[in-house]
Amino acid sequence: MTTTTLWHNARIATLDPSHGADGWGLIEDGALLTAGDQIAWVGRNRGLPSHARPAHEIDLGGALVTPGLVDCHTHLVYGGQRAAEFEQRLQGASYEAIARAGGGIRSTVAATRSASEDDLLASATQRAKSLMAEGVTTLEIKSGYGLSLEAEARCLRVARRLGAEQRLEVKTTFLGAHALPPEFDGRPDDYIDAVCAWLPELHAQGLVDAVDAFCEHIGFSPAQTRRVFEAAKALGLPVKLHAEQLSDQGGAALAASFGALSCDHLEHLSEVGIAAMKAAGTVAVLLPGAYYFLRETKLPPIAALRAAGVPMAVSTDHNPGTSPGLSLLLMASMACTLFRLTPLEAVQGITLHAARALGLTDRGQLAAGQRADFVAWDLDHPNELAYWFGRNPCRRVIAAGLEHQ
Ligand code: NIG
Ligand code: FE
Repeated sequence: MTTTTLWHNARIATLDPSHGADGWGLIEDGALLTAGDQIAWVGRNRGLPSHARPAHEIDLGGALVTPGLVDCHTHLVYGGQRAAEFEQRLQGASYEAIARAGGGIRSTVAATRSASEDDLLASATQRAKSLMAEGVTTLEIKSGYGLSLEAEARCLRVARRLGAEQRLEVKTTFLGAHALPPEFDGRPDDYIDAVCAWLPELHAQGLVDAVDAFCEHIGFSPAQTRRVFEAAKALGLPVKLHAEQLSDQGGAALAASFGALSCDHLEHLSEVGIAAMKAAGTVAVLLPGAYYFLRETKLPPIAALRAAGVPMAVSTDHNPGTSPGLSLLLMASMACTLFRLTPLEAVQGITLHAARALGLTDRGQLAAGQRADFVAWDLDHPNELAYWFGRNPCRRVIAAGLEHQ
């Protein structure tokens, strides 16, 4: 029998528009009834239907409750770190110049290839715990630092093991088309052939939930990206894209033509790309950590995305090269200060829209039938999630109906 629990004495930001038109969906004196890993009911403390007889009652002490946070774009599994490259960039070297000289992603590939599966799991677990301590209950993890069948499989297995061991749902994304590995120097099309050949094998091992690529002059061309997407489509796998980060390659429109779940980065996104994303229902994933850490100056076209009604998610893009940050709340703050999102947009961006960027409709809001992922915060109003920085107001995390210890 499923366990029922009444979580009461909370101020609940449901993000469900049926509870008030301001978008926060606030319920004062609120309570949530969970049945196993699902939410059975949300409402006022005294409004619980009389036939409900919860097996347990937990007093949340008046805390603010929001949906569990969703970090929808990370490269969490890798070996080593790139602090020396950070110093080079501070002295004037550009990210592209370092990549073209064989550093950048390639240096992380070398460190990842030489790390054991257990070492990769240990370092990724530490990072995941930082995110979880701030209320992350769903996490996307990309491969892309192995760049061989064996090493990509190893990284994706680590991501799966992490999801099995922690109170966290992990979604995996195959990013074989992240960079050209040295053994394919001068032969990018042969490498894309290899990536397309690995995909069915990785999929057969149950390691792939979605497929991504880095469409950029230092990554792969739109034509090469298209081939990767065709391979994904043949297997029925959804696609996402690192699009228009450093230049406008028309990647967003290409991804949208494949019904992409999301296009991510988007600093150089055009009106054509925005219109294509809107028509396809593709989520724009904003990554202010990478913008900040690369000291970019070109802003993603936030006002145009907003005007077009493209949903905007916000994520850490955690990776050792462009965004070594492990605080999704800091990203929400930076999405407001740097990108001019409203606090409501930023909070929707790390919950509701982030879930949609992963193709998940069972979370991101607090309503009956949704997954019982929620966080109790030491805050009065949910707009404070995008306000404080360098402070962790997370009090309790409930994932799939169970509290983290
Ligand atoms: O999302 N842009 C490509 N990929 C990563 C960075 C990878 C790296 O530098 O290691 C990103 O920014
Ligand atoms: Fe990324």
